[in-house]
Amino acid sequence: MTPHGPLAGAAPSAWEASADVVVVGSGVAGLTVALDVAEAGLRVVVVTKDAADAGCTWWAQGGVAVVVGDVPGDTVDTHVADTLAAGGGLNDAAAVASIIAGGPDAVARLRARGAVFDPDPSERPPSRLARTREGGHSAFRVVHAGGDATGAEIERALVATAAGRGLPLLTGHVAVDALRDDAGRVTGLAVLDDHGRPGALHAPAVVLASGGYGQLFASTTNPETATGDGIALALRAGAAAADLEFVQFHPTVLHTPGASGRRPLVTEAVRGEGALLLDRAGRRFMLGVHPLAELAPRDVVAAAITRRLADTGTECVWLDATGLDGFASRFPTVHAACRAIGVDPVTEPIPVTPAAHYACGGIVTDVDGRTAVPGLYAAGEVARTGLHGANRLASNSLLEGLVVGARAARAVAADLAGPRPVAGAVRIPPLVAGIAERATVQRAMSTGAGIGRDAAGLAAASDAVEAATLVGAPIDRAGVEDAALTLLAQAVLAAAGTRTESRGCHVRTDFPDRDDAWQRASLVVALDPSGAPVVHSELAAVGAA
Ligand code: SIN
Repeated sequence: MTPHGPLAGAAPSAWEASADVVVVGSGVAGLTVALDVAEAGLRVVVVTKDAADAGCTWWAQGGVAVVVGDVPGDTVDTHVADTLAAGGGLNDAAAVASIIAGGPDAVARLRARGAVFDPDPSERPPSRLARTREGGHSAFRVVHAGGDATGAEIERALVATAAGRGLPLLTGHVAVDALRDDAGRVTGLAVLDDHGRPGALHAPAVVLASGGYGQLFASTTNPETATGDGIALALRAGAAAADLEFVQFHPTVLHTPGASGRRPLVTEAVRGEGALLLDRAGRRFMLGVHPLAELAPRDVVAAAITRRLADTGTECVWLDATGLDGFASRFPTVHAACRAIGVDPVTEPIPVTPAAHYACGGIVTDVDGRTAVPGLYAAGEVARTGLHGANRLASNSLLEGLVVGARAARAVAADLAGPRPVAGAVRIPPLVAGIAERATVQRAMSTGAGIGRDAAGLAAASDAVEAATLVGAPIDRAGVEDAALTLLAQAVLAAAGTRTESRGCHVRTDFPDRDDAWQRASLVVALDPSGAPVVHSELAAVGAA
């Protein structure tokens, strides 16, 4: 970072700095990009609105899906086929093949950066990694760390590597809006620093790696940081987003009556290793729903649980893991969360319900993280590469963050290698946005846009969000987040209302069947000149990559 000269800006700016690359977010994708561009000799600065490890990556339990060739019968092609099957016909097949093929190298580089995965306990001495299985996977191919603490180990290793290399990582800094020149090129970021002072970070490349928007819903596996800021920022900068209606609900979070906000995940690997789902009468209900029963893709399991809750009038179903050996050591995170609410998963079934978990869509990028806006890149959950389609296959997300993070770094380095465009005068207009109260948005989305949506519920949610929305200028982190959540609510509701079919994790009770007239058609959202989200049915319609 170097100090920078005065701005031609409209808004007061307390400080300015510049770098070659600004990365927003310090999870698996953001730190992979940052470490790689630094290795390429570029000056990078990472901004993250909270502590370095406060994003979604830390909370990921299950693992990283990857085929490295040491599981008999498993191949990259099978992993591709499982990803396409889970994605309900909406994946970009070329992106799927390309990203999954990049997995082995990406995991090897992560291990070289110090991440330690669990060894296979049956091998003496251990010579290969342990594997687990999750919903929709036809093989045991998911590598994990710390039993069920894979994300925490990845985050630990990347943060430690970044610290060891002296990578500038600005915690408590909130990305407010993109700086753009007269040609629409992104030239940096408007940022609130850790004292709330507005400033400008100038850079010819801005990489968004700020995660998803689970906090749009009242109950989610996502931490408080997952407020969709990056997608909102990209939309305002002229980028397109797609597949926003495909919010993945994880089938099994720990149920505590009346609890909301971030809920403890019960990793799908618990089912992968034999746990069974039971209803109030102690009956298995996934048999007959899908040939893989409890290990069906998670959209199928989440929808079946939701139906069973309605049929039985209960608030939760139960996950019986009492038959599993060594539960406490294999799943220490889940074990501790259960014990904290007085449940012993070794001797009794775990009460579980679905909750919002993952944004399958996001900012439209190619597999190298490029958006259609010059100077703006995205990687990880914030982006939509086409890997996930209508429903993400379990444990493909850390993989995508690693693979696309590395490729985005290469794309940035290549794009900055040529002559750099001379930025014109950059103005920082104050961000003025619709802002609704968070609890109102979460209640409206949970009621009208959860699992099992219909036209009336979606319209009621839109009305509730609109009625609560005031136009203002966010002056702090909470305001920036609320503005993002408000825009995301409008965009998700618009896309979910337009998709009059059920596909993947978008379940319409008024259109219960898949309608293959929709095959291959992603819904794209961009902002109109007034800043309102508009739905297009073709990627090309908004000039997306
Ligand atoms: C889980 O461990 O069940 C979640 C993994 C994922 O979302 O990919």
